[in-house]
Amino acid sequence: MLKGKHIILGITGGIAAYKCATLTRLLVKAGAEVQVIMTPNAKQFIQPLTLSTLSGKPVISEFFTANTGQWNSHVDLGLWADALIIAPATASTIGKMANGVADNMLVTTYLSAKAPVFVAPAMDLDMMRHPSTKRNLDLLRSYGNHIIEPAEGELASHLIGKGRMEEPENIVKVLDDYFKAGEDLQGKHVLITAGPTVEKIDPVRYISNFSSGKMGFALAEECACRGAHVTLVAGPVSLQTINAGIERVDVTTAVEMHDAVMQSLPQADAIILCAAVADYRVENVADKKIKREKDSAPVLHLAPNPDIARAVGQAKREGQVSVGFALETDNENVNAQGKLERKNLNFIVMNSLRDKNAGFQVDTNKVTIFTDKGEIIEGDCKSKRDVARDIVDVLYKYLSTK
Ligand code: C5P
Repeated sequence: MLKGKHIILGITGGIAAYKCATLTRLLVKAGAEVQVIMTPNAKQFIQPLTLSTLSGKPVISEFFTANTGQWNSHVDLGLWADALIIAPATASTIGKMANGVADNMLVTTYLSAKAPVFVAPAMDLDMMRHPSTKRNLDLLRSYGNHIIEPAEGELASHLIGKGRMEEPENIVKVLDDYFKAGEDLQGKHVLITAGPTVEKIDPVRYISNFSSGKMGFALAEECACRGAHVTLVAGPVSLQTINAGIERVDVTTAVEMHDAVMQSLPQADAIILCAAVADYRVENVADKKIKREKDSAPVLHLAPNPDIARAVGQAKREGQVSVGFALETDNENVNAQGKLERKNLNFIVMNSLRDKNAGFQVDTNKVTIFTDKGEIIEGDCKSKRDVARDIVDVLYKYLSTK
């Protein structure tokens, strides 16, 4: 899939830069045209001569070529590229990319690029888990960049932990898989619900849940990257959508979410119900703040909310594919399969709160997919974006056989 592709390989100043000779070689061998851009510090770790020889192109590092005064256009480079790989990506470059600090050729090109961006971080384990690195990586994810998670193992500091740059073979595979998936959802309309719903008790209090919306937003970005037109009906979350193919409808309550979904349903080819919808709302929302009572506690009367997935299951027409989620704390498989049938879903994605690093708020997830054909597909713990890719792969199969 990499044959003829224009790849910018951005190398930054980390010891894993030595692996970029192999990475360049593998990309060239796969038929890609590789333009290496190095940050000034990267040149301390590996010679530009090595990379220009392997790529067959002079390495770019500065805005101007010193002896000729020739300007290296970051805009032209950004437009030329079919993909950018930043490997190794140091904490410093990740921070600059996240915050638009365009003080070198690489970050400037990154800001100009329209192509997908793959970032392979490499750093010491403590740098990796520092809140600023985590926040910056989250920002990059929210811009739609693909983070190739570093592996665990012995680091240059001889400490053991997460921070080793992914091996060149695997980076090439990620890229190859990306191009394989291509724009397979071109012309499809995918309707997605995400985040929690918020049900008012009085003007200052509400009933809700811990959903962050990250999984639904990752699905929206993944579908849009693959060419779909996405309608994302989102409960109150603090996430941004990046891809221009996403039309976002912000809602607060389950009833509002239901109405927005029903309005878009007729046009949708696929519906992914990822939102954590409150099952109940308060029947009589107080119009003034409820005051503490001396002798008794107030009683909230709850009314059931619409089950959006079920309504979709009943209303969906021939050819529409619906996908549900089941977040369980116990009896996982039985509960998920029950929901698959009750809600007339084509497949359901189950995650368990018993699994570490899965479910609410976190950036990773571990899911099992149950299909209406009786298949059970178990996944590993991965970033939510990677889980989104797996889910959309299954969705694509359904859409292409309908
Ligand atoms: O809450 P529950 O576990 O039943 O959720 C299973 C699936 O149903 C999820 O896909 C969820 O988004 C959807 N759902 C919904 N409307 C509800 C409750 C759940 O769309 N009121």
